[in-house]
Amino acid sequence: MDTSATSASPVDVDKFLVEKLLAPEPEMAAARRRAHDAGLPHIEVSEVQGKFLMLLTQIAGAKRVLEIGTLGGYSTTWLARGVGPEGHVTTCEYEPLHARVAADNLAASGVEDRVEIRIGAALDTLDSLLAEDGEPFDLFFIDADKENNAHYIDLAIMLGRPGSVIVVDNVVREGAVLEEGDPLTDAGRLVNGVRRGIDVLGSNPRVDATALQTVGVKGWDGFAVGIIR
Ligand code: SAH
Ligand code: DHB
Ligand code: MG
Repeated sequence: MDTSATSASPVDVDKFLVEKLLAPEPEMAAARRRAHDAGLPHIEVSEVQGKFLMLLTQIAGAKRVLEIGTLGGYSTTWLARGVGPEGHVTTCEYEPLHARVAADNLAASGVEDRVEIRIGAALDTLDSLLAEDGEPFDLFFIDADKENNAHYIDLAIMLGRPGSVIVVDNVVREGAVLEEGDPLTDAGRLVNGVRRGIDVLGSNPRVDATALQTVGVKGWDGFAVGIIR
């Protein structure tokens, strides 16, 4: 296909897709603004990705979702919409300020009753959830400190059931995933964490996974999506 006639960029296309496919969502736009105004980093999923998470939740029929990495609650809100009023989202966040902004955003979107924000290191929270021995989770969205991705995936397999879905954000990182990172730098440790997560998805017989690269307002990155066997 000859695409040389267009000067469009992935960012332009994201804007086009949002305009065509997403209803105007003042609450969702306000949630982003509130997070940015509070000084939170601009690293939430994009609008089209957020809606993808909602639809995936609905496609899976997921009613119990576990999110790792809340930030200002932007992806959380999409997941909460996906599970519907009878569903439930547990979301893990280390930073009290992020959790506070998220709580405000969830309330403004009217989904606060179906979301529990657990403040603390997600590894501890997941250990507590294992000890609590509740109903299995139907879908996981792993999007926090990438160094722990492999642990989060292992724990998700224990907290899920056959058929549960595992989604991992940021598995491409502008292609950085291809090379072992320098363990002495933050960026290197991050990419090594992403790589170990992909290794678990590829080698653990309890999970069957693929990954899709994405471009758009968030640059070149990707999601891994797996199912627990
Ligand atoms: N899912 C969000 C973005 C999450 S950004 C969205 O798309 O809208 C990653 C978040 O994970 C940050 O808020 C960060 O504070 C949090 N985080 C980092 N390390 C963590 C840890 N060990 N436990 C829990 N949360 C952590
Ligand atoms: C970045 C993006 C993310 O989705 C994330 O979870 C962490 C960092 C980034 O663009 O730096
Ligand atoms: Mg992310």
